Amino acid sequence: MKKLIIMKNIEKKYPCAGNQIKALKNINLSVEYGEFIAIVGTSGSGKTTLMNMIGCLDTPSSGEYILENELVSEMSEAKLSKIRNKTIGFIFQGFNLISSLDALENVELPLIYRGIPKIKRRELAKKALEQVGLSQRHKHKPSQLSGGQQQKVAIARAIAGNPRIILADEPTGNLDASSSETILKVICSLRDKSRTIILISHDNSIAEKADRIMTMSDGMIDNSRQIINNSFYGADNFF
Ligand SMILES: Nc1ncnc2c1ncn2[C@@H]1O[C@H](COP(=O)(O)OP(=O)(O)OP(=O)(O)O)[C@@H](O)[C@H]1O
Ligand SMILES: [Mg+2]
Repeated sequence: MKKLIIMKNIEKKYPCAGNQIKALKNINLSVEYGEFIAIVGTSGSGKTTLMNMIGCLDTPSSGEYILENELVSEMSEAKLSKIRNKTIGFIFQGFNLISSLDALENVELPLIYRGIPKIKRRELAKKALEQVGLSQRHKHKPSQLSGGQQQKVAIARAIAGNPRIILADEPTGNLDASSSETILKVICSLRDKSRTIILISHDNSIAEKADRIMTMSDGMIDNSRQIINNSFYGADNFF
């Protein structure tokens, strides 16, 4: 099977008061098209750092990152930005919506950066809002929406351009139990043969829905605690 993501010996070091923090150590990871992966682990274990690396928001200090057969670990910021825009949809804990734009405009924003013409943009944005169950809220600004609805707008924004990868970092961290459940259902409904979902969550119930649960510990993926949940995988899909 063709790999979507291959990481080899990735390290990330941050300078800190004359010293260095190793936020990622010897990360080896391979991800298939269509996989749903949950990343769990204690605070400070490197989950967000790894997610940022996968999402090309950050570059490794050493090691190789190959995304769709391209060596992205050595690319310029301009190239990375193009790849991010085309390949990856981000969902953050804090929603990160633009307060002056309504729901439809927020969803359209990344499509503008991709150079998609206005009519097509509208069409894709409306379809994405429909998919998350928010067709009736096009004209609402973020302040006029509940937290759960704002996160649905953010999910619509992430999926509107049909990216191959959805990255979600604690997407329910700011929501109450009932909204969290709705949002997790929406995220699970995005599963698709060609769409890979990588989700950081403290919520065990969502992690259990994933094909694979990866536990991070002290900057490393703890392979002894990797859990494979279903028959998504063939026998030889891991290094
Ligand atoms: N920009 C930075 N500069 C210096 N150190 C950083 C930076 N970003 C992260 N770190 C350090 O790297 C380690 C991993 O941080 P990271 O944010 O990836 O953890 P996390 O697993 O996402 O934690 P949480 O569950 O609290 O979100 C931490 O020790 C953190 O202090
Ligand atoms: Mg984090």
